[in-house]
Amino acid sequence: MTGLLLLSAAAQTAPEAAPAAQVRSVGDTLYPTLGQAGLDAVHYDVHLTVTQPGTRALSGDVTATLRARWPLPLISLDFLGPVVSAALWNGQPVPFRQDHAAGKLLILRALPAGQEARVTLRYAGVAGVLPDPVFPFTLGWQAVPDPVNVGGGANFAFSEPDGARTFLPVNDHPSDPATFTVTLTVPPGTTAVASGERVLATDTPDTPDTPHTVTFDQKQPIPTYALAVHLGPLEAVDSPGVPVGLGGALVARRDYFPPGTTDAVRAPYRRTGEILKALSDWFGPYPFATYGSAVVTARLPALETATLSTMPVTSSSERVIVHEAAHQWFGNTVTLRDWSDVWLNEGFATYAELLWAEHQGQDGQALADAWYVTLQRRGTRPLTATTQGEMFDSSAYQRGALALHALRRQVGDDAFRTFLRGYAQGGAAAPSAAPERAAQVVGTDELLDYTRRTLGEQAARVLRDWVQSSVLPPAP
Ligand code: TRP
Ligand code: ZN
Repeated sequence: MTGLLLLSAAAQTAPEAAPAAQVRSVGDTLYPTLGQAGLDAVHYDVHLTVTQPGTRALSGDVTATLRARWPLPLISLDFLGPVVSAALWNGQPVPFRQDHAAGKLLILRALPAGQEARVTLRYAGVAGVLPDPVFPFTLGWQAVPDPVNVGGGANFAFSEPDGARTFLPVNDHPSDPATFTVTLTVPPGTTAVASGERVLATDTPDTPDTPHTVTFDQKQPIPTYALAVHLGPLEAVDSPGVPVGLGGALVARRDYFPPGTTDAVRAPYRRTGEILKALSDWFGPYPFATYGSAVVTARLPALETATLSTMPVTSSSERVIVHEAAHQWFGNTVTLRDWSDVWLNEGFATYAELLWAEHQGQDGQALADAWYVTLQRRGTRPLTATTQGEMFDSSAYQRGALALHALRRQVGDDAFRTFLRGYAQGGAAAPSAAPERAAQVVGTDELLDYTRRTLGEQAARVLRDWVQSSVLPPAP
């Protein structure tokens, strides 16, 4: 499916629109309307203002730095958010059209191949609502009211796979990761935090009667769904830095807890530093400058938001902390070409749970055996997902993890470690038009090629069997 988005008559008659008024989406197998083919979002400078935390009210001012890989007759961003009041092109007003039904924001100006433009969008109102197609929750901007008067409501982002567009105009596909600067303006006494490093120079003081502003700089490109945003009555807890960054650089550690978080919930987060050490032993340097968790009371899965995983109270276990930390390498740094390849995220993150169990002197093989039994009981499928409903199933998680276990059993620990480190550093990615940014976008085929190149034909056959076979390969 190529996903053609037909423009309305209004857009077609705009003078800036090209005669062939069609925009091609990225062409994702499972999400055929997302994104714009040929569009490369380089950076998003995001300003969000929330005056009533815990409600859906939101205003935004986002400047996207956009580059065209080939001539684009117009720009089409994904957006389900509030009404846009103004659009600017390099600072000058530009015609635009908001197609709420299609979830697209069209900027009616052509962008020549290889050129960059800064597109600014201003909006205010309420965040969009996007029900998950399978699970009983909504994706994107979350509002947690304050039912017991513990210090105000909260908001945060839970965007995987396509919820970022409920509050941000973005090229909403993991094949187009970008850097972010996020500035949050919130009421006095409200803690606000986003992916990346805090930029102290732009902070305004949190005084009792005026809103205050904080800025975070996410310097490494990440997929849009991985952007963390949290605001509410959160308590920040600092821990000692961990020397697991590039060249042994210290990775800063800070977690965030809502009021009333019990010590039982807090306890497993105290092991985060040790977890980062154990994982970087296998995966290579931790890819960002900081890491922590933001605990939320909402009933959701955990999410590997970059530099700051989003952790429901109910997911506050060592196992899930390990899983989300592993996604910082696999998912947030090595990103997906297509959502059907999501096992590349989930299989690697699940396998990290086994590596952690071993690190603690537990029986990793027993865990692998349990996964195998789960798959025998529930049934399984080839690893490439064919429906949205398969994306987060036990084949993506447990079969994906067992595929890696089979590979490790085939080649041994040393070769497997080298394989993991090379893959985490983008070794499987095909050279691209924008190597400095897109070098880490991968699909299953590229993993298979990389396996053949680095571990040989025999190993690649083992992996291929786990990827493609309609029946469960022998237990590794
Ligand atoms: N990626 C998350 C994890 O495994 C899970 C997740 C994100 C999810 N979005 C989802 C699961 C939507 C089901 C539906 O850590
Ligand atoms: Zn996961």
